[in-house]
Amino acid sequence: MSSVEIKGEREISMMREVCRLAAGTLERVGPMLRAGITTQEINDFVHADTLKLGARPAPLNYRGFPKSVCTSINEVVCHGIPSPKRVLKDGDIINVDVTHLYKGYFGDTSATFYIGEPSPEAKKIVEVARKSLELGIAQVKPGARLGDIGAAIQEFAEGQGCSVVRDFVGHGIGRTFHSDPQVKHYGQWGTGIRLRAGMTFTIEPMVNVGGYEVEVLEDDWTAVTKDGSLSAQFEHTVLVTPDGVEVLTRRESPLVASELYANYFAS
Ligand code: MF3
Ligand code: CO
Ligand code: CO
Repeated sequence: MSSVEIKGEREISMMREVCRLAAGTLERVGPMLRAGITTQEINDFVHADTLKLGARPAPLNYRGFPKSVCTSINEVVCHGIPSPKRVLKDGDIINVDVTHLYKGYFGDTSATFYIGEPSPEAKKIVEVARKSLELGIAQVKPGARLGDIGAAIQEFAEGQGCSVVRDFVGHGIGRTFHSDPQVKHYGQWGTGIRLRAGMTFTIEPMVNVGGYEVEVLEDDWTAVTKDGSLSAQFEHTVLVTPDGVEVLTRRESPLVASELYANYFAS
């Protein structure tokens, strides 16, 4: 039995609102990112920006998470904890994962940004992650199967010689941060529940240069690649519509410090 909630018009308009606010915060993070700043400064910016909107940063105190945003650098797969000790340096890649809570609804979105000039490997993994999210979203429409999202992502990412993280998945979202369904970023075509108009969930593929295995550090949050290889991630919150998909966290303009290599996969 599947317990995936179907949202009505009122809930959908609330989701549109919170997701637009989260997208705006992520957009405003880009311009501050440069070598020399700390991940704590990113945290403080996101925290203040979120409050200014009248929203709350959902990560703060979520299951004991101590900060207002996740900042995941290089081999960190996800759930990196901002720190005044971690200074960004030239060549780093950093995922900033923003989740807002506004009028009782959650909106979740992330992107990976380039600090200075990326190595060819860094550029590759970030662009594979970006394209993976796009291909996953392209599968979403009523009647499609949930597993089609993961199948499309896995086929592409592995075809590029990268691997797809298994231990973290996308998730239903609405009045709760994480709910059914679990959205795997790997799997088989034609499997899983059928998507229906009114479902809202995230798609947030994490792709690695090396193996897909991850390890969680002593802080109980920071997930890193087991082999130390680079990892990248992008996340959107989406709505299944009668015609297909609406990307609720879509942005108005290209993301500063992230969307620099638009033609990497000319399609
Ligand atoms: N935003 C993350 C996600 O995409 C969850 C972060 S939980 C936290 O699901 F506690 F680390 F913030
Ligand atoms: Co999420
Ligand atoms: Co997130």
